[in-house]
Amino acid sequence: MKTELVENITQNIDFLPLKGTDFIELYVGNAKQAAHFYKTAFGFQNLAYAGPETGVKDRASYVLIQNKIRLVLTTPLFPEHPISEQLTKHGDGVKIIALWVDDAYDAHLQTTSRGAESYMDPQTLEDENGEIRMSGIYTYGETVHLFIERHNYTGLFMPGYQKWESHYNPEPAGLLYVDHCVGNVGWNQMDKWVKFYEDVMGFRNILTFDDKQISTEYSALMSKVMSNGNGYVKFPINEPAEGKKRSQVEEYLDFYGDEGVQHIAIATHDIVDTVTKLQDRGVEFLKVPAVYYDDLEQRVGKIEEDIEPLKHLGILVDRDEEGYLLQIFTKPVEDRPTLFFEIIQRKGAKSFGAGNFKALFEALEREQELRGNL
Ligand code: FE2
Repeated sequence: MKTELVENITQNIDFLPLKGTDFIELYVGNAKQAAHFYKTAFGFQNLAYAGPETGVKDRASYVLIQNKIRLVLTTPLFPEHPISEQLTKHGDGVKIIALWVDDAYDAHLQTTSRGAESYMDPQTLEDENGEIRMSGIYTYGETVHLFIERHNYTGLFMPGYQKWESHYNPEPAGLLYVDHCVGNVGWNQMDKWVKFYEDVMGFRNILTFDDKQISTEYSALMSKVMSNGNGYVKFPINEPAEGKKRSQVEEYLDFYGDEGVQHIAIATHDIVDTVTKLQDRGVEFLKVPAVYYDDLEQRVGKIEEDIEPLKHLGILVDRDEEGYLLQIFTKPVEDRPTLFFEIIQRKGAKSFGAGNFKALFEALEREQELRGNL
């Protein structure tokens, strides 16, 4: 009986406790210009900078912040730099999803001992503000999870970075925190990565969508949502499915040249206000046909918001057993049809908007067709 108890306790212990997303790092072709875009269009604020002026000779990194979201934009300074190779292949995109942990050394040990490939052995960075301990593992494609431990650090971001100041500081847009990050993986690779997150990181599969639920007349995909123990970190994983024409996941894989992050969903407390600001600043969103709103409340039940502003902005609504959610998707934020953003406001709902997939994918396909990729 004692052994049983110990086993039960062990099974319930989260071997990789995560406190949330620490930062997301994009490799980009021109970080100076990308930083300007994320400030102007999305309302991110200057936080920190590393580059030749701070002693980092081979790259420049700009750290932007909005509430709990830290975005790092990194560009290589030399053609023969390894990051230059990745940029040639993928274009701009997410390299690192960094996770906030209490013990970066233990996170590395727990994950690599369960089969993860190490990206960065545990290390400690120090400056006058204390120390950051960090480590990292590879996930799908060339994407990486860093584990960041910062409870003994009082500086702005991490050692090596300086305060980044500017006279140009557009207002924030109400973006609060990373709700989820979605990965696109190759044909028949979804279950492999589901197992990776289960075995290596202790995540659970909390939702599954098959190709019958997520398909239009033409293209299809399958998706499984992975969540860590406390639900702070959620990674849906998509794979393409056979349809009459090229699936949107396939289009992504062709243009990114690999598996990678498809979209980052960011939470807001007031989606109408946030999306109004973003549209005014030039962020382009996918639009569903106006008929979507004709029988909206018959489909999703009573909602607190007026329908007219939602219709005007193109905001979608979906409901599950626990409540409803409002969401909208940007067009890709680079010329390749790869990374895009989702803005989401949850009103009780813990799901991901499956009821909108069909309407949304039809909108996506219209864009794909315009690019000649359908
Ligand atoms: Fe999403």
